[in-house]
Amino acid sequence: MTHVVAEPCHGCKYTDCVEACPVDCFHEGPTMLYIDAEECIDCQQCVAACPVEAIFHEDDLPAAWRGYVEINARLAAELPSITVRKEPLAGG
Ligand code: F3S
Repeated sequence: MTHVVAEPCHGCKYTDCVEACPVDCFHEGPTMLYIDAEECIDCQQCVAACPVEAIFHEDDLPAAWRGYVEINARLAAELPSITVRKEPLAGG
């Protein structure tokens, strides 16, 4: 099981989730972040940390965003890890 970053992160990248994660499972793309399913320990800390509610347990993912399970797994493996909060794209 894992948690998944979904559509609301796109164009936002608040990165509060990164600081909440105890195992550094987030990876950064140009427009959003992705969770490495093999690193995620399902602690749920990031769920509450995200101001736009972009993170879900994979079992709780809204149907329209099911595709993000595969997207997170694939892109987290390709993209660099992010472990420190940075200025959000959303400007907030
Ligand atoms: Fe994205 Fe929310 Fe993290 S907007 S970068 S999932 S805090």
